[in-house]
Amino acid sequence: MSEIDKKFQSKNFKSWNNSDLKNIPVDGKRYNSHAFMEKEWEFMWPKVWLLLGREEEIPNPGDYQMEDFGKESFLMVRQDDDSIKSFYNVCQHRGARLTFSDVGTAETFNCPYHGWKWRKDGKLIEAQDSEDFPQGDPCQNLRLEEVKTETFAGFIWINMDKNACSLKEWLGPIWDDWQAYEIHKWKRYVAQTVNMPCNWKIILDNFNESYHLNTVHAPEKAVTKKRMPSGVDTSYKSTQFDLSDEGHNRMIMQAGYGPAGSFEEGGIIEDPLATVMRDWEIDPDNFTGRGFDTREAIQKAKRKLGPKRGYTHYENLHDEQLTDAFHYTLFPNFAVSLWADGFHFLRARPHATDPEKCVFDNWWYASNPKNEISPIRSTVGIHERGNFAIEPDIFNHGEKSLGQTIDQDAVVFIFQQYGLRSRGFNGAYFAGQEKRVHRFHEMIESYFEE
Ligand code: FES
Ligand SMILES: [Fe+2]
Repeated sequence: MSEIDKKFQSKNFKSWNNSDLKNIPVDGKRYNSHAFMEKEWEFMWPKVWLLLGREEEIPNPGDYQMEDFGKESFLMVRQDDDSIKSFYNVCQHRGARLTFSDVGTAETFNCPYHGWKWRKDGKLIEAQDSEDFPQGDPCQNLRLEEVKTETFAGFIWINMDKNACSLKEWLGPIWDDWQAYEIHKWKRYVAQTVNMPCNWKIILDNFNESYHLNTVHAPEKAVTKKRMPSGVDTSYKSTQFDLSDEGHNRMIMQAGYGPAGSFEEGGIIEDPLATVMRDWEIDPDNFTGRGFDTREAIQKAKRKLGPKRGYTHYENLHDEQLTDAFHYTLFPNFAVSLWADGFHFLRARPHATDPEKCVFDNWWYASNPKNEISPIRSTVGIHERGNFAIEPDIFNHGEKSLGQTIDQDAVVFIFQQYGLRSRGFNGAYFAGQEKRVHRFHEMIESYFEE
């Protein structure tokens, strides 16, 4: 374990294995070359578990959800026995895409080209002139091509590799960490799907490090105090970085502290933390100059009041989880900031043909207690719940805000994409605290070797 890995240890969360790096070079070409993109398509994407759908969006037999993923598209379909089967969204006659609708209910998928009817369990049940096939009746011989499907945390995960390990094995320590939150009961309140002019890995790189927080998100506070206004302790020395053997990462940042300035005499607790405290029946004025004490006070108040207010999952959570930022990146393309009541879903999907484009999902799920009185409260912000967002709002980057923090990240995504094209870039020069970025690229390359 390196010095970085040892710096801070959460009380209740033992560090993961944090295996050493091979220190491969990370050049610019991987972000813009078609050759690298093709390698990912050939060797990596068909082997990994992908978080793709949401169980509650297809509650009844015949309900389906369709998700595009790079050059692929998948149909996830609820079956009569309540299980979910997933298929490539392609007709086995001559390769037409079966449907372009994101969600629906169907007993059969009828190909728009020659009208073949594929039953929801994948069997072909009707083909015109079926006697005219020298190789035999297609209904006797063909099925939709199925992909391995499992569910966890209310999400539908697929793997194109028929011999893939189980999802539980794939997720390793994430499984237990997440189960405590009862995320399967959480609802989606924000769903923005954005066409981004950058490679998908740029987004994951960014979510794999916290080195940029003080410069991209809170530059004016960075010089004197390594704390963001939102009361998250962003210093790498107080952050726990974990790398799992399975290739996933975890970063635990203590949060719930008062903003910069509230540690000194007379320093007041400002919003959003002040509002969060009032929600939990704590008077922020009693904490003037005591910005270090607010974290524990919030934890205690949530413990006491949470179950009565319907936050049943608090019983399963450790104190840290009631306030702190637990940020996970799941290999290869998913990141989440997980708060006691919010799941900031950050997923990058590769573009079908262009390595310098991707699709970025900026979604929020939140706990849904019976007696909910407030919007989604994370200790870094207040997110209006609005209505359930079943249909994602799809647009091009720049057309709408993605929220202040992600807007700031997105600007970086784009100018980094420009810089990475340069023949004058000699490869990344990583800090210790950027180990997760480096490891991410090593994981990708490990698929090319097999
Ligand atoms: S391509 Fe689907 S029926 Fe012909
Ligand atoms: Fe960021």
